[in-house]
Amino acid sequence: MLTEVLEGLRSRQKFLPSKYFYDKEGSRLFDEITRLDEYYPTRTERSILESNLEDISDHLGEKIMLIEPGSGSSEKTRILLDELSSICCYMPIDISGEYLQKVAVQLRRDYPEITIEPVVADYTHAIELPKIHNSARKIVFFPGSTIGNFEPDTAMRFFKVIRGLTGNGGGLLIGVDLKKDLNILLNAYNDSKGITAAFNKNMLTHINREIGSDFEPGYFDHSAIWNEDKGRIEMHLIANRSHTITVEGESFTIEESESIHTENSYKYSLSDFSDLVSPWFGVRKVWTDPKKYFSLQYLSPKPQ
Ligand SMILES: C[S@@+](CC[C@H](N)C(=O)[O-])C[C@H]1O[C@@H](n2cnc3c(N)ncnc32)[C@H](O)[C@@H]1O
Repeated sequence: MLTEVLEGLRSRQKFLPSKYFYDKEGSRLFDEITRLDEYYPTRTERSILESNLEDISDHLGEKIMLIEPGSGSSEKTRILLDELSSICCYMPIDISGEYLQKVAVQLRRDYPEITIEPVVADYTHAIELPKIHNSARKIVFFPGSTIGNFEPDTAMRFFKVIRGLTGNGGGLLIGVDLKKDLNILLNAYNDSKGITAAFNKNMLTHINREIGSDFEPGYFDHSAIWNEDKGRIEMHLIANRSHTITVEGESFTIEESESIHTENSYKYSLSDFSDLVSPWFGVRKVWTDPKKYFSLQYLSPKPQ
């Protein structure tokens, strides 16, 4: 974390990696965001899952190990765990270890017939999975349009990692947020209750606790903008006064109105997304909601 924070603050456009949103409080705030009226992705993706369970089940096949990188609360996954008797093992993977272990305890209690095997790992690096249920089909579940948080070249590297996990016989079930009316997009990242603002600023508290930096969350305001050229929502923390931050004895001056870029959320058209995955996966099926706000896609690995 220290290395990445220093790299971000030394850059001309200051940035902090979005994975540091998630300590226990960040995970809790994210859950609150998913319940907001303005935040359409979670409820839309849930409704797509719920309305197409039979077809999804047919595509996923028999005797499945479900692997979920960035599983968070695993709330959405429960829809699959509840309904798909073909799942013999569920492997939630998350960087937020304490939260993951708490969720795993609840999952073991609620699904005694499924092997629950949590893995604390950073999915931006190659992941070593525990060797269990080797004969099961490896289905990677990557909902929430988390793929939209990756730069296109990072997304390419991620698909390569996932292709390694699925092998030739598995598949990828992925949620992808789609391009749409700008107001709907902007409201989703600028909610009226200020929960997204609290989530954005909580990253500073998290970083302070881990590496002893002295960010002052009150000296920043939350901002979310649409970048038309890149086709993405950007979240920033904008300094509301000029001040100095100290990290490991190194000082950084941040001017009033200067931004620290904290997250990107790329929005795709169906054809752009199909092109993006094409070196590693082929799109087999796309499910959407009636307004075409969001898509859930089943991809199968291309032979390598
Ligand atoms: C937005 S939540 C998504 C939860 C769930 N997949 C869903 O769609 O509702 C993102 C989760 O990914 C985890 N996460 C973020 N970056 C990660 C990384 N690089 N490696 C592993 N987990 C990560 C966070 O800790 C958080 O629990």
